[in-house]
Amino acid sequence: MADTLTKLAYQALQQGKSLVGVAHKEVSTKLMELVAPQGAPKTRPIPPQMLMDLQAANSALMEIDWEEAEQGLYPTSLLFDAPWLDWAARYPMVWLDMPSTWNRRSERNVSDLPPDVESDNYPDYYLQNFHHQTDGYLSDHSASLYDLQVEILFNGTADPMRRRVIKPLVQGLRAFAERPASQLRVLDVATGTGRTLRQVRAALPQVQLVGLDLSSAYLRQANRWLSQLPDELPQLVQGNGESMPFASGSMQGVTCVFLLHELPGDARQNVIDECFRVLEPGGVLVLADSVQLADSPQFETAMDNFRRVFHEPYYRDYIGDDIEARLTATGFSGIRATSHLMTRVWSATKP
Ligand SMILES: C[S@@+](CC[C@H](N)C(=O)[O-])C[C@H]1O[C@@H](n2cnc3c(N)ncnc32)[C@H](O)[C@@H]1O
Repeated sequence: MADTLTKLAYQALQQGKSLVGVAHKEVSTKLMELVAPQGAPKTRPIPPQMLMDLQAANSALMEIDWEEAEQGLYPTSLLFDAPWLDWAARYPMVWLDMPSTWNRRSERNVSDLPPDVESDNYPDYYLQNFHHQTDGYLSDHSASLYDLQVEILFNGTADPMRRRVIKPLVQGLRAFAERPASQLRVLDVATGTGRTLRQVRAALPQVQLVGLDLSSAYLRQANRWLSQLPDELPQLVQGNGESMPFASGSMQGVTCVFLLHELPGDARQNVIDECFRVLEPGGVLVLADSVQLADSPQFETAMDNFRRVFHEPYYRDYIGDDIEARLTATGFSGIRATSHLMTRVWSATKP
């Protein structure tokens, strides 16, 4: 009985988030068409069949999210975990930030970054306003709005999609079952504000967690969220996923969520190569990113619209990329992939 009520509460929460996300996008799009029509993106209408497919995939995501909590892979409380008060307080800032986003879009200005950014510290492909967002990834302001913006973009499904890395990660770490959990290290590449680390921490309270990202502002935000958790504080390191400051074979698990689509092809390969290098033989890599044309052709219009609405310069290349071939070429084995709504999850082992 208690389980049924909790499940109903979870479904109601997800439906509520979805309604808020859809309503926010409807209103903000109408406002942009009115106030800044020259910047309004030309999107393709979503076919009715695709809407039905999206709804079915959303229900399947909620079901698996619930089932894996029931199986004990992570606590049920994680399904309700979000900084609600903080998001409510920040929501007006999302609206206040919109006019500058529309301006950049109208002017096709994608390099509007803070003047004090030391560009030599970053790869060229990084120095852009991804999603047209203010300051790109390079300010505390951007980091403070990011989680809420992603939550709205995915209609509240961002964390359920991120949680799909937990099962393959936990299964992969069984290769080291003879070691105490406290001696295992899991690295989250491009951890951003640490939402994935937060999910992983709930599932694996004793393993050592490390988060790497190029943005010190995003890492500061991650530190704020993660330091509220009771378990050992994850280590947060500023660095490039293409050349990570970790010893070879020093990690037993590596995750990487929503990074690959923001990289040019050669950087994508470099990151996969680096994940291979830092893993100990027997270790597991779990990647999560947008679905692609080959696995989810029914969502082609949604993928195309995403690219039209947001500045995502490498997305078109990414959705046609063969990630399995890259993993195989790098030396990974046991490659598996599954899709969950708009996210594809790959797991692979270093032999
Ligand atoms: C779309 S966000 C994803 C963040 C996080 N994984 C999540 O699930 O929300 C992309 C992140 O990748 C980081 N990033 C981009 N290129 C990177 C690179 N070459 N090395 C490390 N981090 C990078 C950005 O700073 C940003 O935090």
